[in-house]
Amino acid sequence: MIVGVIGSGTMGSGIAQVAATAGCKVFLFDESAIALQKAESRLQSTFSSLVEKGKLSFEKSAEIRSNIQYASSLQELKNAELVIEAIVENKEIKAKLFSNLEQIVSNDCILASNTSSLSIASLAASCKKPERFIGIHFFNPAPLMALVEIIPAVQTSEIVMTKAFYTIKAWGKIPVKARDTPGFIVNRVARPFYGEALRIFDEGLADMPTIDWAMKTFGGFKMGPFELMDFIGNDVNFTVTETVFHSFFCDPRYMPSFTQKRMVEAGYLGRKTGRGFYDYSPNAIKPSVDEDPDLGKMIFDRTLAMLINEAAEALHYGIASTEDIDLAMTKGVNYPKGLLNWGKEIGLQTIVNQMDNLFEEYHDPRYRASSKLRKMATECA
Ligand SMILES: NC(=O)c1ccc[n+]([C@@H]2O[C@H](COP(=O)([O-])OP(=O)(O)OC[C@H]3O[C@@H](n4cnc5c(N)ncnc54)[C@H](O)[C@@H]3O)[C@@H](O)[C@H]2O)c1
Repeated sequence: MIVGVIGSGTMGSGIAQVAATAGCKVFLFDESAIALQKAESRLQSTFSSLVEKGKLSFEKSAEIRSNIQYASSLQELKNAELVIEAIVENKEIKAKLFSNLEQIVSNDCILASNTSSLSIASLAASCKKPERFIGIHFFNPAPLMALVEIIPAVQTSEIVMTKAFYTIKAWGKIPVKARDTPGFIVNRVARPFYGEALRIFDEGLADMPTIDWAMKTFGGFKMGPFELMDFIGNDVNFTVTETVFHSFFCDPRYMPSFTQKRMVEAGYLGRKTGRGFYDYSPNAIKPSVDEDPDLGKMIFDRTLAMLINEAAEALHYGIASTEDIDLAMTKGVNYPKGLLNWGKEIGLQTIVNQMDNLFEEYHDPRYRASSKLRKMATECA
């Protein structure tokens, strides 16, 4: 298969690696020659290190490398059967690119966007043939994360959906179909992991290291919420939250936190700037944790209840199937368990009760229990 990848940054170069490793001929294009050069040297060193570690033979790495062409003009993508766009997250710039691209590629070429936050329908609308347009959303780092969300727009044809789904599967990934709604599956269902941690901190119920400790100790999460936000980058994480919040017409369930906003304003973006919620300088003092089991359990129970409630809500609105929602969270963000299954293990009525108690305490619609969760709890009883 001939694949075009546009944008050779973090995601585009990773997607090119995945497609080339699966045997596709890849044309990687970036409007910046410097960015393209950087991608080439980054990919070369990735392949060299895979060979050094014995994960790839020298011959195989040479074959994969030869599958990637670094295109200096969009015109070189003319024979592509699938083009995946991973450029800057800006609707107008993406729309312009797709309308240019349609004048170059064949009528059968599938056009896809890796956008995290724009609606697929709005991007498809910029095409002359919107039925060939689809969302193909990889996770970072694309070569390592198994999950890929496949998001048909209202305009997307069934055949394009099927082709995209099976292409991604053939690339060794786990595709899950998601509805074209803000955050798709993962970026929506994961919001309470950050949002509730920030809320607990903002209320002064616990400090950041204690919240991180609670989620790792009681929940088995690999990183706590503040560690993860620092890892992702507060700028990126805050923008996703803000976009999801506004896209859901300001539903308080997704309300951003001033604490994180101030971090972004201060330039405390996380690991990449050496300072975020935590200090990453060499002489930084390790923060202390209040290892109070009752406090830890409260933090974990409250956050997990919000996560399970969000998963139930996504199911309620047909964003994806039960299996795919659980798969998405374990394969897209490495959660220790699928949320809906986790809820069943604990007892869905217990989760409903936790939500109702929170609602009773705060009288804030943020804590309304999903009607789907209530229904599932009754059915399980
Ligand atoms: N970084 C992530 O964790 C992540 C995860 C999933 C999806 N995404 C999405 O993937 C896309 C790319 O994100 P990224 O983090 O790789 O960005 P990035 O900044 O690392 O790379 C973007 C690249 O696109 C190039 N570019 C910009 N405008 C262009 C144009 N008109 N034509 C050609 N090239 C152009 C830039 O030169 C740059 O090299 C965004 O839509 C983002 O929402 C990002």
